[in-house]
Amino acid sequence: MIPIAKPYITEEDARAAYDTILTGWITQGPKVQEFEEKFAAYTGAKYAVAVSNCTTALHLSMIVAGITVGDEVICPSLSYIATANAITYVGGSPIFAEVEPGTYNLDPVDVERRITSKTKAILVVHQIGFPADLDAFQALSIKYNLTIIEDAACAAGSAYKEAKIGSHSDLVCFSFHPRKVISTGDGGMITTSRQDYYERLKMLRQHGMSVNDRIRHESKEVVFEDHVEVGYNYRMTDIQAAIGIKQLEKLDWIVNERRKVARFYNEAFRGLPHIKLPAEQNGQFSNFQSYSIYLKAGYGLKRNELMQLLLDWGIATRRGVMTTHRESAYKRSHKEVVLPISEDMQDNSIILPLYVPMEQEEVIYIAETFCAMIKNPKAFSAKVENF
Ligand SMILES: Cc1ncc(COP(=O)(O)O)c(C=O)c1O
Repeated sequence: MIPIAKPYITEEDARAAYDTILTGWITQGPKVQEFEEKFAAYTGAKYAVAVSNCTTALHLSMIVAGITVGDEVICPSLSYIATANAITYVGGSPIFAEVEPGTYNLDPVDVERRITSKTKAILVVHQIGFPADLDAFQALSIKYNLTIIEDAACAAGSAYKEAKIGSHSDLVCFSFHPRKVISTGDGGMITTSRQDYYERLKMLRQHGMSVNDRIRHESKEVVFEDHVEVGYNYRMTDIQAAIGIKQLEKLDWIVNERRKVARFYNEAFRGLPHIKLPAEQNGQFSNFQSYSIYLKAGYGLKRNELMQLLLDWGIATRRGVMTTHRESAYKRSHKEVVLPISEDMQDNSIILPLYVPMEQEEVIYIAETFCAMIKNPKAFSAKVENF
Protein backbone atom coordinates (compact mmCIF):
# COMPACT_ATOMS: atom_id res chain seq x y z
CA MET A 1 0.00 0.00 0.00
CA ILE A 2 1.35 3.42 -0.92
CA PRO A 3 0.36 5.82 1.90
CA ILE A 4 -0.98 9.32 1.35
CA ALA A 5 1.86 10.93 3.32
CA LYS A 6 4.88 10.19 5.50
CA PRO A 7 6.80 12.64 7.66
CA TYR A 8 10.44 13.01 6.64
CA ILE A 9 12.20 12.44 9.96
CA THR A 10 15.85 11.41 9.90
CA GLU A 11 18.39 9.90 12.31
CA GLU A 12 19.72 13.42 12.77
CA ASP A 13 16.28 14.64 13.94
CA ALA A 14 15.94 11.68 16.31
CA ARG A 15 19.41 12.34 17.73
CA ALA A 16 18.54 15.99 18.33
CA ALA A 17 15.51 14.88 20.39
CA TYR A 18 17.62 12.31 22.27
CA ASP A 19 20.35 14.83 23.07
CA THR A 20 17.79 17.35 24.27
CA ILE A 21 16.13 14.86 26.59
CA LEU A 22 19.50 14.23 28.23
CA THR A 23 20.11 17.93 28.86
CA GLY A 24 17.30 17.76 31.42
CA TRP A 25 15.50 20.71 29.83
CA ILE A 26 12.57 19.02 28.17
CA THR A 27 9.78 21.58 27.97
CA GLN A 28 9.87 25.16 26.61
CA GLY A 29 13.43 26.42 27.05
CA PRO A 30 16.57 27.23 25.05
CA LYS A 31 15.74 24.97 22.09
CA VAL A 32 12.33 26.62 21.71
CA GLN A 33 14.01 30.03 21.69
CA GLU A 34 16.54 28.85 19.07
CA PHE A 35 13.79 27.36 16.89
CA GLU A 36 11.81 30.62 17.10
CA GLU A 37 14.81 32.73 16.12
CA LYS A 38 15.66 30.45 13.19
CA PHE A 39 12.04 30.23 12.01
CA ALA A 40 11.67 34.02 12.12
CA ALA A 41 14.89 34.44 10.14
CA TYR A 42 13.74 31.81 7.61
CA THR A 43 10.40 33.49 6.96
CA GLY A 44 11.68 37.05 7.10
CA ALA A 45 9.42 37.99 10.04
CA LYS A 46 10.86 39.88 12.98
CA TYR A 47 9.60 37.45 15.64
CA ALA A 48 8.26 33.92 15.97
CA VAL A 49 6.44 32.32 18.91
CA ALA A 50 6.35 28.52 19.17
CA VAL A 51 3.18 26.88 20.48
CA SER A 52 1.68 23.42 20.84
CA ASN A 53 -0.04 23.28 17.42
CA CYS A 54 -1.57 25.52 14.76
CA THR A 55 -5.01 25.46 16.38
CA THR A 56 -3.59 27.05 19.53
CA ALA A 57 -1.58 29.47 17.32
CA LEU A 58 -4.85 30.54 15.69
CA HIS A 59 -6.62 30.81 19.05
CA LEU A 60 -3.92 33.11 20.48
CA SER A 61 -3.90 35.14 17.26
CA MET A 62 -7.63 35.75 17.61
CA ILE A 63 -7.06 36.98 21.18
CA VAL A 64 -4.23 39.38 20.35
CA ALA A 65 -6.16 40.65 17.32
CA GLY A 66 -8.91 41.56 19.80
CA ILE A 67 -11.61 39.31 18.32
CA THR A 68 -14.37 38.87 20.85
CA VAL A 69 -18.05 38.02 21.34
CA GLY A 70 -20.21 39.29 18.48
CA ASP A 71 -17.33 40.00 16.09
CA GLU A 72 -17.43 38.55 12.62
CA VAL A 73 -14.38 37.02 11.00
CA ILE A 74 -14.55 36.05 7.34
CA CYS A 75 -12.88 32.76 6.48
CA PRO A 76 -13.24 29.93 3.99
CA SER A 77 -15.52 27.03 4.81
CA LEU A 78 -13.26 24.95 2.57
CA SER A 79 -10.59 24.38 5.20
CA TYR A 80 -9.79 22.12 8.09
CA ILE A 81 -12.37 22.76 10.85
CA ALA A 82 -9.66 24.24 13.13
CA THR A 83 -9.76 27.44 11.03
CA ALA A 84 -13.37 28.24 12.00
CA ASN A 85 -12.99 26.77 15.50
CA ALA A 86 -10.37 29.39 16.41
CA ILE A 87 -12.93 32.13 15.73
CA THR A 88 -15.62 30.28 17.69
CA TYR A 89 -13.30 29.80 20.72
CA VAL A 90 -13.24 33.58 21.35
CA GLY A 91 -16.99 34.02 20.84
CA GLY A 92 -16.66 35.34 17.30
CA SER A 93 -18.76 34.25 14.32
CA PRO A 94 -17.08 32.60 11.38
CA ILE A 95 -18.59 34.05 8.21
CA PHE A 96 -17.91 31.57 5.47
CA ALA A 97 -16.95 32.96 2.08
CA GLU A 98 -16.49 31.26 -1.24
CA VAL A 99 -13.23 30.09 -2.74
CA GLU A 100 -12.09 30.78 -6.27
CA PRO A 101 -12.90 27.95 -8.64
CA GLY A 102 -9.83 25.79 -8.99
CA THR A 103 -7.55 27.47 -6.42
CA TYR A 104 -8.96 26.20 -3.07
CA ASN A 105 -8.34 29.73 -1.69
CA LEU A 106 -10.69 32.51 -0.55
CA ASP A 107 -12.18 34.67 -3.28
CA PRO A 108 -11.49 38.35 -2.39
CA VAL A 109 -14.55 39.50 -4.35
CA ASP A 110 -16.88 37.25 -2.35
CA VAL A 111 -15.10 38.26 0.87
CA GLU A 112 -15.77 41.94 0.16
CA ARG A 113 -19.46 41.18 -0.40
CA ARG A 114 -19.69 39.69 3.10
CA ILE A 115 -18.07 42.57 5.01
CA THR A 116 -20.46 44.19 7.50
CA SER A 117 -20.12 46.68 10.37
CA LYS A 118 -19.37 43.66 12.64
CA THR A 119 -16.47 42.35 10.53
CA LYS A 120 -13.18 42.64 12.42
CA ALA A 121 -10.82 40.36 10.53
CA ILE A 122 -10.25 38.10 7.55
CA LEU A 123 -8.74 34.70 8.29
CA VAL A 124 -6.94 33.85 5.07
CA VAL A 125 -5.94 30.21 4.51
CA HIS A 126 -3.11 29.12 2.21
CA GLN A 127 -4.83 25.91 1.36
CA ILE A 128 -2.71 22.79 0.75
CA GLY A 129 0.35 25.05 0.52
CA PHE A 130 -0.87 27.35 -2.28
CA PRO A 131 -0.62 31.00 -1.15
CA ALA A 132 -3.83 33.01 -1.21
CA ASP A 133 -3.98 36.34 -3.03
CA LEU A 134 -2.49 38.37 -0.16
CA ASP A 135 -2.30 41.66 -2.10
CA ALA A 136 -6.07 41.60 -2.58
CA PHE A 137 -6.71 40.88 1.11
CA GLN A 138 -4.27 43.54 2.24
CA ALA A 139 -6.14 46.03 0.02
CA LEU A 140 -9.43 45.01 1.74
CA SER A 141 -7.77 45.31 5.13
CA ILE A 142 -6.78 48.93 4.39
CA LYS A 143 -10.13 49.83 2.78
CA TYR A 144 -12.26 48.47 5.65
CA ASN A 145 -9.78 48.66 8.56
CA LEU A 146 -9.69 44.90 9.09
CA THR A 147 -7.01 42.66 10.59
CA ILE A 148 -5.55 39.96 8.37
CA ILE A 149 -4.68 36.69 10.09
CA GLU A 150 -3.06 34.01 7.96
CA ASP A 151 -3.74 30.32 8.52
CA ALA A 152 -0.50 29.01 7.05
CA ALA A 153 -0.89 25.57 8.67
CA CYS A 154 0.04 23.95 5.36
CA ALA A 155 2.35 26.64 4.00
CA ALA A 156 5.81 26.44 5.64
CA GLY A 157 8.25 26.94 2.77
CA SER A 158 5.66 28.41 0.38
CA ALA A 159 6.12 31.95 -0.95
CA TYR A 160 3.95 34.74 -2.30
CA LYS A 161 5.49 37.19 -4.76
CA GLU A 162 9.05 36.08 -3.91
CA ALA A 163 8.63 36.51 -0.12
CA LYS A 164 8.24 33.53 2.20
CA ILE A 165 4.85 32.99 3.83
CA GLY A 166 5.23 34.32 7.37
CA SER A 167 6.56 37.72 6.31
CA HIS A 168 3.42 39.40 4.91
CA SER A 169 1.03 39.93 7.83
CA ASP A 170 1.16 40.61 11.56
CA LEU A 171 -0.20 37.19 12.55
CA VAL A 172 0.74 34.10 10.56
CA CYS A 173 0.09 30.63 12.02
CA PHE A 174 1.92 27.43 11.03
CA SER A 175 1.44 23.74 11.83
CA PHE A 176 4.08 21.06 12.34
CA HIS A 177 1.62 18.14 12.42
CA PRO A 178 3.02 15.05 10.63
CA ARG A 179 0.78 15.71 7.59
CA LYS A 180 2.61 18.99 7.04
CA VAL A 181 5.82 19.58 5.11
CA ILE A 182 8.00 19.64 8.24
CA SER A 183 6.97 18.16 11.56
CA THR A 184 7.74 18.20 15.27
CA GLY A 185 5.13 15.51 16.05
CA ASP A 186 2.57 18.15 16.88
CA GLY A 187 3.57 21.79 17.03
CA GLY A 188 2.84 25.29 15.80
CA MET A 189 4.40 28.71 15.27
CA ILE A 190 3.14 32.27 14.98
CA THR A 191 5.23 34.81 13.09
CA THR A 192 4.77 38.52 13.60
CA SER A 193 6.71 41.71 13.13
CA ARG A 194 4.82 43.55 15.91
CA GLN A 195 6.64 43.65 19.21
CA ASP A 196 3.44 44.15 21.23
CA TYR A 197 1.90 41.00 19.65
CA TYR A 198 5.14 39.11 20.22
CA GLU A 199 5.29 39.97 23.93
CA ARG A 200 1.63 39.16 24.54
CA LEU A 201 1.71 35.89 22.58
CA LYS A 202 4.69 34.68 24.64
CA MET A 203 2.83 35.48 27.82
CA LEU A 204 -0.49 33.95 26.76
CA ARG A 205 1.06 30.63 25.73
CA GLN A 206 2.46 30.20 29.23
CA HIS A 207 -0.44 30.83 31.60
CA GLY A 208 -0.14 34.62 31.30
CA MET A 209 3.15 34.56 33.24
CA SER A 210 5.23 37.73 33.19
CA VAL A 211 8.58 35.86 33.34
CA ASN A 212 9.33 32.61 31.58
CA ASP A 213 11.12 29.61 33.12
CA ARG A 214 14.33 30.09 31.15
CA ILE A 215 14.75 33.68 32.35
CA ARG A 216 14.04 32.65 35.95
CA HIS A 217 16.53 29.81 35.64
CA GLU A 218 19.29 32.01 34.22
CA SER A 219 18.77 34.89 36.66
CA LYS A 220 21.40 35.57 39.33
CA GLU A 221 18.75 37.26 41.41
CA VAL A 222 15.53 35.89 42.81
CA VAL A 223 12.73 36.59 40.35
CA PHE A 224 9.02 36.60 41.20
CA GLU A 225 6.52 36.20 38.44
CA ASP A 226 3.06 37.67 38.12
CA HIS A 227 0.22 36.15 36.14
CA VAL A 228 -0.81 39.22 34.25
CA GLU A 229 -3.91 37.82 32.55
CA VAL A 230 -5.71 34.52 32.15
CA GLY A 231 -3.47 32.54 29.82
CA TYR A 232 -3.12 29.01 28.51
CA ASN A 233 -0.69 26.14 28.51
CA TYR A 234 0.11 26.13 24.79
CA ARG A 235 3.85 25.48 25.19
CA MET A 236 6.02 23.60 22.74
CA THR A 237 8.57 21.30 24.37
CA ASP A 238 12.33 21.60 23.84
CA ILE A 239 12.26 18.03 22.52
CA GLN A 240 9.90 19.12 19.73
CA ALA A 241 11.88 22.30 19.08
CA ALA A 242 15.15 20.32 18.75
CA ILE A 243 13.49 18.27 15.99
CA GLY A 244 12.03 21.45 14.48
CA ILE A 245 15.46 23.09 14.20
CA LYS A 246 16.77 20.11 12.22
CA GLN A 247 13.61 19.93 10.12
CA LEU A 248 13.83 23.63 9.31
CA GLU A 249 17.38 23.13 7.96
CA LYS A 250 15.89 20.67 5.45
CA LEU A 251 12.74 22.62 4.59
CA ASP A 252 13.87 24.11 1.27
CA TRP A 253 15.27 20.76 0.14
CA ILE A 254 12.00 18.99 1.13
CA VAL A 255 9.94 21.58 -0.77
CA ASN A 256 12.15 21.14 -3.81
CA GLU A 257 11.71 17.35 -3.70
CA ARG A 258 7.94 17.70 -3.32
CA ARG A 259 7.82 20.06 -6.27
CA LYS A 260 9.71 17.51 -8.40
CA VAL A 261 7.05 14.87 -7.67
CA ALA A 262 4.26 17.38 -8.36
CA ARG A 263 5.89 18.30 -11.68
CA PHE A 264 6.14 14.62 -12.59
CA TYR A 265 2.42 14.11 -11.83
CA ASN A 266 1.49 17.25 -13.78
CA GLU A 267 3.44 16.04 -16.82
CA ALA A 268 1.97 12.54 -16.60
CA PHE A 269 -1.63 13.76 -16.19
CA ARG A 270 -1.54 16.65 -18.67
CA GLY A 271 -4.17 16.12 -21.35
CA LEU A 272 -6.18 13.56 -19.38
CA PRO A 273 -9.89 14.12 -19.91
CA HIS A 274 -12.11 15.40 -17.06
CA ILE A 275 -9.42 16.46 -14.63
CA LYS A 276 -8.03 19.81 -13.53
CA LEU A 277 -4.46 19.84 -12.26
CA PRO A 278 -3.05 22.04 -9.49
CA ALA A 279 -1.37 25.06 -11.05
CA GLU A 280 0.53 27.98 -9.52
CA GLN A 281 -0.66 31.45 -10.51
CA ASN A 282 -0.44 35.12 -9.44
CA GLY A 283 2.98 34.95 -7.75
CA GLN A 284 2.29 31.66 -5.97
CA PHE A 285 5.14 29.35 -5.02
CA SER A 286 3.67 26.22 -3.46
CA ASN A 287 5.36 23.73 -1.15
CA PHE A 288 2.86 21.14 -2.50
CA GLN A 289 1.80 20.13 1.01
CA SER A 290 -0.84 18.13 -0.88
CA TYR A 291 -1.32 17.24 -4.51
CA SER A 292 -5.03 17.66 -5.20
CA ILE A 293 -6.81 16.94 -8.47
CA TYR A 294 -10.29 18.14 -9.34
CA LEU A 295 -12.60 15.80 -11.27
CA LYS A 296 -14.70 17.81 -13.69
CA ALA A 297 -18.40 17.26 -14.23
CA GLY A 298 -19.13 14.66 -16.85
CA TYR A 299 -16.57 12.10 -15.72
CA GLY A 300 -18.46 8.80 -15.57
CA LEU A 301 -17.13 7.57 -12.25
CA LYS A 302 -17.96 9.17 -8.89
CA ARG A 303 -14.99 10.58 -6.94
CA ASN A 304 -15.48 8.09 -4.09
CA GLU A 305 -15.62 5.17 -6.51
CA LEU A 306 -12.32 6.29 -8.01
CA MET A 307 -10.80 6.55 -4.50
CA GLN A 308 -11.95 2.99 -3.73
CA LEU A 309 -10.56 1.72 -7.00
CA LEU A 310 -7.19 3.35 -6.31
CA LEU A 311 -7.20 1.82 -2.81
CA ASP A 312 -7.98 -1.61 -4.31
CA TRP A 313 -4.86 -1.14 -6.42
CA GLY A 314 -2.68 -0.18 -3.47
CA ILE A 315 -2.84 3.63 -3.64
CA ALA A 316 -4.18 5.55 -0.62
CA THR A 317 -5.94 8.83 -1.39
CA ARG A 318 -7.96 11.40 0.58
CA ARG A 319 -11.06 13.37 -0.30
CA GLY A 320 -10.55 17.04 -1.10
CA VAL A 321 -10.40 19.63 1.67
CA MET A 322 -13.51 19.60 3.89
CA THR A 323 -16.30 22.19 3.93
CA THR A 324 -16.77 23.28 7.54
CA HIS A 325 -20.37 24.48 7.12
CA ARG A 326 -21.45 20.92 6.26
CA GLU A 327 -19.82 19.33 9.34
CA SER A 328 -22.20 18.54 12.21
CA ALA A 329 -20.46 21.06 14.51
CA TYR A 330 -21.49 23.97 12.23
CA LYS A 331 -24.45 22.59 10.26
CA ARG A 332 -27.14 23.80 12.64
CA SER A 333 -25.73 27.27 13.22
CA HIS A 334 -24.99 27.76 9.50
CA LYS A 335 -28.12 26.24 7.95
CA GLU A 336 -28.51 29.09 5.49
CA VAL A 337 -24.97 28.85 4.12
CA VAL A 338 -24.71 27.65 0.53
CA LEU A 339 -21.30 27.70 -1.12
CA PRO A 340 -21.60 25.89 -4.45
CA ILE A 341 -17.94 26.25 -5.47
CA SER A 342 -16.56 25.10 -2.11
CA GLU A 343 -19.02 22.20 -1.97
CA ASP A 344 -18.14 21.14 -5.50
CA MET A 345 -14.41 21.34 -4.70
CA GLN A 346 -14.85 19.17 -1.62
CA ASP A 347 -17.03 16.63 -3.39
CA ASN A 348 -14.93 16.27 -6.51
CA SER A 349 -11.32 16.65 -5.43
CA ILE A 350 -8.96 13.84 -4.68
CA ILE A 351 -5.56 14.02 -2.99
CA LEU A 352 -2.84 11.68 -4.25
CA PRO A 353 0.18 10.41 -2.28
CA LEU A 354 3.08 12.85 -2.01
CA TYR A 355 5.93 12.59 0.46
CA VAL A 356 9.72 12.65 0.66
CA PRO A 357 11.54 10.56 -0.31
CA MET A 358 9.23 8.87 -2.80
CA GLU A 359 10.70 5.97 -4.70
CA GLN A 360 10.75 6.47 -8.46
CA GLU A 361 8.83 3.19 -8.89
CA GLU A 362 6.09 4.44 -6.55
CA VAL A 363 5.63 7.69 -8.48
CA ILE A 364 5.62 5.87 -11.80
CA TYR A 365 3.17 3.25 -10.52
CA ILE A 366 0.78 5.95 -9.24
CA ALA A 367 1.03 7.98 -12.43
CA GLU A 368 0.51 5.01 -14.74
CA THR A 369 -2.29 3.49 -12.67
CA PHE A 370 -4.09 6.81 -12.32
CA CYS A 371 -3.86 7.59 -16.06
CA ALA A 372 -5.08 4.14 -17.04
CA MET A 373 -7.89 4.27 -14.46
CA ILE A 374 -9.12 7.69 -15.54
CA LYS A 375 -9.29 6.50 -19.14
CA ASN A 376 -10.77 3.07 -18.52
CA PRO A 377 -11.85 2.26 -14.95
CA LYS A 378 -13.70 -0.84 -16.15
CA ALA A 379 -10.35 -2.48 -16.85
CA PHE A 380 -9.62 -2.29 -13.09
CA SER A 381 -12.86 -3.62 -11.63
CA ALA A 382 -15.83 -5.66 -12.69
CA LYS A 383 -17.83 -3.52 -10.25
CA VAL A 384 -17.55 -0.44 -12.49
CA GLU A 385 -20.80 -0.04 -14.41
CA ASN A 386 -22.21 2.69 -16.65
CA PHE A 387 -18.83 4.25 -17.44
C1 LIG B 1 -5.77 24.88 7.22
C2 LIG B 1 -5.50 24.28 8.57
N1 LIG B 1 -5.62 25.05 9.68
C3 LIG B 1 -5.38 24.57 10.90
C4 LIG B 1 -4.99 23.26 11.09
C5 LIG B 1 -4.75 22.76 12.48
O1 LIG B 1 -3.39 22.45 12.67
P1 LIG B 1 -2.93 21.64 13.97
O2 LIG B 1 -3.25 20.21 13.73
O3 LIG B 1 -1.44 21.87 14.03
O4 LIG B 1 -3.63 22.21 15.13
C6 LIG B 1 -4.86 22.41 9.98
C7 LIG B 1 -4.48 21.02 10.17
O5 LIG B 1 -4.63 20.17 9.34
C8 LIG B 1 -5.10 22.93 8.69
O6 LIG B 1 -5.00 22.18 7.60
